[in-house]
Amino acid sequence: MMTESTESTESTESTESTESTESTPALALPALEEVSTVACVGAGTIGGGWAAYFLARGFTVRVWDPAPDAAERLGRLIDAAWPALRQLDMVAGASRDAWSVHADLAEAVDGAGFVQESAPEDLAMKRRLLADVDAVTAPDVVVGSSTSGYGMTEMAAEVSRPERFVVGHPFNPPYLIPLVEVVGGESTAAEAVDWAAAFYTRLGKSVIRMDQEVPGFIANRLQEALWREALHMVDNGEATVEQIDRSITEGPGLRWPMQGPMLTFHLAGGEGGMAHMLDHFGPSLQSPWTRLDAPELTPRLRDAVVAGSDRAADGRGVAELIAERDAGIIAIRRLSESGRAGAGSGADSGAEAAQ
Ligand SMILES: NC(=O)c1ccc[n+]([C@@H]2O[C@H](COP(=O)([O-])OP(=O)(O)OC[C@H]3O[C@@H](n4cnc5c(N)ncnc54)[C@H](O)[C@@H]3O)[C@@H](O)[C@H]2O)c1
Repeated sequence: MMTESTESTESTESTESTESTESTPALALPALEEVSTVACVGAGTIGGGWAAYFLARGFTVRVWDPAPDAAERLGRLIDAAWPALRQLDMVAGASRDAWSVHADLAEAVDGAGFVQESAPEDLAMKRRLLADVDAVTAPDVVVGSSTSGYGMTEMAAEVSRPERFVVGHPFNPPYLIPLVEVVGGESTAAEAVDWAAAFYTRLGKSVIRMDQEVPGFIANRLQEALWREALHMVDNGEATVEQIDRSITEGPGLRWPMQGPMLTFHLAGGEGGMAHMLDHFGPSLQSPWTRLDAPELTPRLRDAVVAGSDRAADGRGVAELIAERDAGIIAIRRLSESGRAGAGSGADSGAEAAQ
């Protein structure tokens, strides 16, 4: 195993780096192929999923998570993820045991060539934590955050080397969903964003590299619109949790693995394509079909959504639902990848093909 080249990264001009971010920050980023160890800071649903994925891609994974049961939870998560990763032929040569949980953050990031932060979605906590990570991580190691919607500009407010901090937003479960949205903050060096995008791509992820910070990035903005409307419908007694889920899984959701919402609507226009679609249905845009402002999450609404979800689970526990979901995602990925390959498209499938 190669070691990280941290000794060559101490820049003699490091004190200038925080204000020289627009053009050429003093970053000596490691070569991608030299990175053999990754640190996961926070190892819940997402951090643990990342850990499983990094392990499958052959990395040694060092973890820091303050929860007393973090190691047990992570062990269970890796146990659940590994069979799914194996089915996708992604674990060849990898060791599922190459992980360790450390009592100390500095110890966990020691020797890591990349850090993935996945602590709870709390801005004050992220700010403090990223400052702590910054203080103990080798200066030219890129740090990615799994945040669902904060910008790196606001999260990196207290770090001294913001140029190496990027958002690397995954989707649950990170070991199966290919997409990662990558975007920097105002003080992130473009080369760090490029490095992170290349790193995730090298791992087999499908990366969208965004040029500007947008709250919620791309996919979560879209998901949030659907989620808000769904909550309004439950709140108003217009639809049940079960009806909402089925309206997607038995309806538009079936099209989305193959074609996204835009190409889907291109076909909704028939031979006239998107142009006809817009001309035909444009006036409907003015109809009051959606509300978009978030509903107030009253106890009544919360209880209704929780009770509906319990009914939808129909006695199946979380582990059983995860296994069902993973089997379904694997089947859909195989079908949609072969479908795209068969259609000769592949415009956005380069990273996945590498797997
Ligand atoms: N759950 C999702 O679907 C999803 C999807 C994409 C991104 N995210 C983002 O990933 C991040 C983690 O979310 P999650 O769903 O895994 O949450 P989670 O609650 O499952 O896990 C959070 C973990 O962080 C640990 N933790 C608590 N305080 C910490 C600290 N100070 N430093 C480090 N770790 C700490 C907890 O012990 C826990 O293990 C959030 O930023 C979230 O927005 C979540």
